[in-house]
Amino acid sequence: MKRTKIKELLTTTPSGQQVTVQGWVRTFRNNQFVAINDGSTIQNIQAVVDFNNTPETLLKRITTGACVSITGELVPSPAKGQPVEVKVQKLEILGDSDAEKFPLQPKKHSLEFLREIAHLRARTNTFGAVMRVRHAMAFAVHKFFNERGFVYVHTPVITGSDAEGAGAMFRVTTLDANNPPRDEQGKVDHKQDFFGRETNLTVSGQLEGETYALALGDIYTFGPTFRAENSNTTRHLAEFWMIEPEMAFYDIQDNMQLAQDFLQYLVRYALEHCAEDLEFLNKRALEEEQTKPQEQRSELSLIDRLKFVSENDFQRLSYTEAIDILRSSTPNKKKKFQYLIDEWGADLQSEHERFLVEKHFKKPVILYNYPAAIKSFYMRQNEDGKTVAAMDVLFPGIGEIIGGSQREERYDRLLKRVQELGLPDKDLWWYLELRKFGSAPHSGFGLGFERLILFVTGMTNIRDVIPFPRFPGNAEF
Ligand code: 4AD
Ligand code: MG
Repeated sequence: MKRTKIKELLTTTPSGQQVTVQGWVRTFRNNQFVAINDGSTIQNIQAVVDFNNTPETLLKRITTGACVSITGELVPSPAKGQPVEVKVQKLEILGDSDAEKFPLQPKKHSLEFLREIAHLRARTNTFGAVMRVRHAMAFAVHKFFNERGFVYVHTPVITGSDAEGAGAMFRVTTLDANNPPRDEQGKVDHKQDFFGRETNLTVSGQLEGETYALALGDIYTFGPTFRAENSNTTRHLAEFWMIEPEMAFYDIQDNMQLAQDFLQYLVRYALEHCAEDLEFLNKRALEEEQTKPQEQRSELSLIDRLKFVSENDFQRLSYTEAIDILRSSTPNKKKKFQYLIDEWGADLQSEHERFLVEKHFKKPVILYNYPAAIKSFYMRQNEDGKTVAAMDVLFPGIGEIIGGSQREERYDRLLKRVQELGLPDKDLWWYLELRKFGSAPHSGFGLGFERLILFVTGMTNIRDVIPFPRFPGNAEF
């Protein structure tokens, strides 16, 4: 008999019809009540076993973690909190689970512990909920851009360029690390490498994305990106997913508006389509909050925070205005910032970003027009000669969720900047050439997908919102 997913059964009117459910045992009580979860919803279905007529040997195999297939009658449940249950007529164990050894017990485990068993953690309520929300958000990303006529462009994972000019790249090579071929000067000869040159895993699809924006108008990328930077924080991964829209004829103002519309759309989508999982995550986040000292607790619950962000305009503010606010503020009566912002031109630390978002404006902030010296080479130079048309979107509890800019579309200015910074213009020839043939004003940004998922789920460590996190020293699973 074809199986029915639990999500569907829970909204079916029970009239004793035959159903088959397949899933994993969460608990087995009183030799009678099996709670089964199949991942289609956070809720379990209760199956009631007739233990008088079930062999002891079979009953013993109904253990937490085992995979079962049951067929029986769908009936109204007398127990509270569940509309239906299944009166078991046939029970089959598809996969045994040794109760003594199964690491997931029916109790709350710490997230640190669960990270060590990343191959099993999807069987917990928390990870089930987070991954269903993650799926919904990925779907909503495509839906948003499709509704606006953007073209999804697949940019390469292996590249010859360093899009951010930051050098934090993973090398891709087929050369023998112990004995690489060498040229006459004794340097490693990359001409003999697979691609005949040095290559890396991409840090961003932006540069390639720009080439398509200057042909198709509005495009976006959505794929994995890699950074060999120190990612031993709760906000960084060595492998993360990024969404990068790029739009011809957009200036920085249009770019900021799109970033706000996009984020609000995603958050609204989650509220509308992930209600059950968000309710669970909301409770979970509240419990976490209770473990923090009073002054560190957030004023709003997860769901209220999502509603607030989806309904209110973000605060737009230039870097210079932000510096003025920060210079005249003390985060609380006694303490100053750990890093003082004395000089115009200094990069903001996360404590400054948090102050602006969480204490001063109490809403998401879009900072724009940053000093050129602290931003990437491709950003459009403003007429003041000091700043570039960069923008960062800062979110409560997250910090930077989006980074973007209007791009420098003027060939001479871009070339000069590339040379000033000593970047390899021979690798960037094609990017520069775009400015020679039909250049156009254009803008774009990158949304860190996992940072979005952190915000929407209320989870606090980025390693817990991606199925298999990559960070220094960890690529086991
Ligand atoms: O600010 P970033 O470095 O910008 C770019 O890569 C641009 N090329 C984007 C563009 O304009 N098309 O990164 C963009 C976003 C950040 O705001 C952050 O959300 C996320 O990507 N991000 C990371 N997320 C997780 N782990 C990391 N190591 C991340 N580095 C950046
Ligand atoms: Mg950035």
